[in-house]
Amino acid sequence: MTDRPTSRRRAGPPLAIGIDIGGSGIKGAAVDLATGAFASPRHRIPTPQPSGPAAVLPTVRHLADLIEQDAGGGRRPVGVTFPAPIIDGSTMTAANVDADWVGYPAETALSSAVGSQVRLINDADAAGLAEMRYGAGRGEKGTVLLLTLGTGVGSALFVDGRLVPNTELGHLEIRGKGAEKRSSAAQRTIRRLSWPEWAALLDEHMRAIERLFWPDLMILGGGVSKNAARFVPLLTVRCRVVPAELKGDAGIVGAALFAAPASWSRRPAGPPTDPGARPPAE
Ligand code: BGC
Repeated sequence: MTDRPTSRRRAGPPLAIGIDIGGSGIKGAAVDLATGAFASPRHRIPTPQPSGPAAVLPTVRHLADLIEQDAGGGRRPVGVTFPAPIIDGSTMTAANVDADWVGYPAETALSSAVGSQVRLINDADAAGLAEMRYGAGRGEKGTVLLLTLGTGVGSALFVDGRLVPNTELGHLEIRGKGAEKRSSAAQRTIRRLSWPEWAALLDEHMRAIERLFWPDLMILGGGVSKNAARFVPLLTVRCRVVPAELKGDAGIVGAALFAAPASWSRRPAGPPTDPGARPPAE
């Protein structure tokens, strides 16, 4: 075992590794769980094509090794995200990745590939955990919905800070199509839509969600959220809408948080002044 002695580890920030598997890139870093900040350089490797388990598993292993070295060696908890609902560690669908992932026992396979227990979570759920702990959802009670706008549209639903996992609101049917086929950030680029044109499609999606869930707050994540000023003012939903704060890195941070011991990762978020909202002091 190359691990450092426990007494020395306690002195440093609690670290975990987060790896975010997407349709175009696999990204990862070590995360300081006290702050949500990266504790190592962020690595990105293009997702192998075809993107089936046979090619992706060794890539995740390679990334985990690189990050572990960056973080000073020693075993750290490893969390991995995937763009599908995760039931009992299996990936249930494959909307933007290779069909070999459908019904695949990915958590077990990733754990064997990495050489230690990996915890697997839906990518949007991970981003939501990160935003609720460290970002735009911090201290928010009631019904909060995070939407990640990327190649697809992911969703993460929170009720009083607790995640309701595996919501797939990107696949809500709108005008006879899966909503993400109209409102994802990728569609804006592919179809060369102006910001107002795309905002109208996103607005229709968000209004359909609002009619069903009546959230108090919607948080919009994904890289496009850095341009929030160009589309958020055009949205007509009733609830508050804010851009995510961790932008494209929320998946990595949330994966690390999910892999951490329960005392860190599964506490409900509270207001910033509530000591219960913070990770335990080291
Ligand atoms: C998948 C979701 C995922 C979202 C964002 C959708 O196509 O079904 O599970 O969260 O894309 O990646």
